[in-house]
Amino acid sequence: MNPITQVKPLDVPSAIVQRRSIKSFKGDPIAPELLKQLVELTVAAPSSFNIQDWRIIIVQDEAKKQALSAAAWNQQQIIQAPVTFVFAAAPHAGEQDLTPMYEQALANGAWNEKVVEYFKTSIPQFQVGLGDKRREYAVKDAMIAATHLVLAAESLGLSTNFMNGWAEDKVKEVIGATDDPDLAIAVLVPVGYAAEPRLNPGRFPLSYNVFVDQVGNSYQG
Ligand SMILES: Cc1cc2nc3c(=O)[nH]c(=O)nc-3n(C[C@H](O)[C@H](O)[C@H](O)COP(=O)(O)O)c2cc1C
Repeated sequence: MNPITQVKPLDVPSAIVQRRSIKSFKGDPIAPELLKQLVELTVAAPSSFNIQDWRIIIVQDEAKKQALSAAAWNQQQIIQAPVTFVFAAAPHAGEQDLTPMYEQALANGAWNEKVVEYFKTSIPQFQVGLGDKRREYAVKDAMIAATHLVLAAESLGLSTNFMNGWAEDKVKEVIGATDDPDLAIAVLVPVGYAAEPRLNPGRFPLSYNVFVDQVGNSYQG
């Protein structure tokens, strides 16, 4: 039993199978302790070199939710859900001061001094070498974190909807990021209690887009 939700969390396979994109939510709030648990499970996600280059904005203010919905072609799930997570990505995070991350890895015994010294040079070098792909790499990390959120929420009795339908400049206005031209918006995820059944639109047969060893050699299961 989860002490926060008083529900038995679903195991990972069950959460994956049960999850659906939910477009209408009840107005019920998410308890602050549960929200905190969701945030902690979200940032438990892995990231390239552990640079944690996501920037997560938890939008719960009613006026902000209205503005965010307007930035997302008036999609109502943002207004209905008590909280929407905006997953942004900071392409230059790997070139910034990562001292707290190194200190923690050292204290946990996960990395030794030699590894840390190596990373202090190689991470910024790698990131700069990515050039135009820095944005893409940061977005990958943010999407992995968003996937952690979605599955954690499902496990803990909540529902979600990944959302790509928004105008980046308008979302950045809502979250107060217009002065950061590099910050990329990766995805929006409203989170709340479902007000509709979880209907599965289904998937292609495995042989359609899963292959063995090379593209075209369909996986038959
Ligand atoms: C990256 C991404 C962006 C999406 N954007 C939207 C969106 O803006 N609005 C929406 O209603 N659904 C959106 N969806 C939901 C998809 O339509 C949905 O995942 C798909 O139809 C499969 O349904 P399921 O999630 O219930 O399995 C998005 C899904 C993903 C993964």
